[in-house]
Amino acid sequence: MLDGMTKRFFQAEVLSEMQKKLKYNPDDMFVLLVVEPASPSGSSTSSSNGSGSPGVVGVVEVSYIGERETLSLLEPGTEGFCYVASMVVAPSWRRRGAAAALLAAAEEAAAAWDERQLLLHVYPENESALALYGQAGFEVLRQQSKPFAKTRVLMRKGW
Ligand SMILES: CC(C)(COP(=O)(O)OP(=O)(O)OC[C@H]1O[C@@H](n2cnc3c(N)ncnc32)[C@H](O)[C@@H]1OP(=O)(O)O)[C@@H](O)C(=O)NCCC(=O)NCCS
Repeated sequence: MLDGMTKRFFQAEVLSEMQKKLKYNPDDMFVLLVVEPASPSGSSTSSSNGSGSPGVVGVVEVSYIGERETLSLLEPGTEGFCYVASMVVAPSWRRRGAAAALLAAAEEAAAAWDERQLLLHVYPENESALALYGQAGFEVLRQQSKPFAKTRVLMRKGW
């Protein structure tokens, strides 16, 4: 459990990250997708996952960005790409298809923006995430190692 000050710090950090994303993304090209468990009747649920966010058991962000280092690896002339970040599913809801559903929704969001690919970074030791993305059709573009930074794997799915 986070103490009050740590929590406020993280909330402030999250807020400033979110503000940056909204500032640097073209209009309407940033979405936060959430997944909620289906209620038995099939209507929207109000069940609680114990986190204070009723119903939400997983989230992911999708944005359109023009990060130069990654652009240099893509087809010449590409000006930007859809990027998946901050994927997480509540521990007690894992292995029930929530993340796969979020990725499918992320793909739909990108397609609605007339984009034909999704990219993401994952740490090489994150075996569950690597398995998730591999299963969803993502392929490794490259492993990125930089001084003073954790090695990350860049993955891409095109359609
Ligand atoms: C990675 C994570 C998002 C997966 O969420 P999830 O809802 O459990 O994933 P799904 O149930 O949709 O799994 C879809 C497929 O991914 C693969 N997969 C997911 N978790 C796996 C695990 N722990 N081990 C092996 N394969 C796994 C499987 O192929 C799975 O299909 P299957 O269950 O039919 O075998 C979740 O474990 C999580 O939140 N981890 C902590 C945060 C994190 O690492 N985020 C990724 C940052 S890049």
